[in-house]
Amino acid sequence: MAVKQIQEEILTLKKEQDVVILAHYYQPIEIQEIADHLGGSLGLSRLANKTDKNYIIFAGVDFMAETASILNQNKKVLIPNPESCCPMAAYLTADKVKEYRINNPNLPVVVYINSTAAVKAESDICCTSANAVKIVKRISSEFNTKAVLFGPDANLADYSEQKSGIKCIKMPEEGNCYVHSQLTIEDMEKIRIAHPKSQILVHPECIREVRELADFIGSTGQMYNLVKNNTTLESDFCIGTERGLMERMVQDFPNKNFHLISEKLLCYNMKKNTIELMRYVLDHLDDPMFEVKVPPEIAKKALKPIEKMLEYS
Ligand code: 13P
Ligand code: SF4
Repeated sequence: MAVKQIQEEILTLKKEQDVVILAHYYQPIEIQEIADHLGGSLGLSRLANKTDKNYIIFAGVDFMAETASILNQNKKVLIPNPESCCPMAAYLTADKVKEYRINNPNLPVVVYINSTAAVKAESDICCTSANAVKIVKRISSEFNTKAVLFGPDANLADYSEQKSGIKCIKMPEEGNCYVHSQLTIEDMEKIRIAHPKSQILVHPECIREVRELADFIGSTGQMYNLVKNNTTLESDFCIGTERGLMERMVQDFPNKNFHLISEKLLCYNMKKNTIELMRYVLDHLDDPMFEVKVPPEIAKKALKPIEKMLEYS
């Protein structure tokens, strides 16, 4: 069946049911096109916190759908492909967090939203790439410390430490995103030469040496807003994050020019959700196969650091 036809069927099915579709900017473009709300991790967490629909289809990876489920424990959260998971989350376990706490008593634990629900449950506060610096500053002042424990992304920890002046002890040293950490100094130098008048935007999950060669460092939502608010005619941007965001920008801002910094910027995990699966889920809202379930005792504990993050950002 042609994509357009599947999309039309989805739009009809959606209207007939008590459902909302949330999609991350990294989703395949045909899914982005039929979503009720599109956004980055922080924006989508806020939206998930506000919806009045009983079914939330979350087109993203597991930690995003889990966060929506923790915020909506009386609603059904579904993910089109239950195998869409963020490998970064596997760098940190709840037991490891407990160990770090024992070795660093009194330090607050900041956990990136790209983590398991069990890890969130052991934290003092969550953060996204959009608010990490703010959260680190706020929680360290609340705990009256000059350092925090931060995981699992070591690059975001490094970025937050640089920007906040607060030591971010990495949990663990090597946590990273395989998509963003692939960007190299050579990629940055090449793109600068190819597009000298362009603004280069990268995600804080990139390594420090790459970040230092960029004109702007920000979350997907912050990059989107920067481009949206740029009023210069003939504006030109090089995008250093997963290609889905650039596909969104190409559609939304036809008068601006975009270049992907590297063809490597593809998150296979995000692309496991397909338009065909979206269509199927809409016809099987009560199929337990798609439901994202967080054990209630973990959800109860993880809710506090997520709500605290929403309150502080
Ligand atoms: P944002 O928080 O910027 O939307 O990014 C999520 C993510 O998974 C980055 O790789
Ligand atoms: Fe995870 Fe990286 Fe994919 Fe984001 S881009 S979902 S951090 S693997």
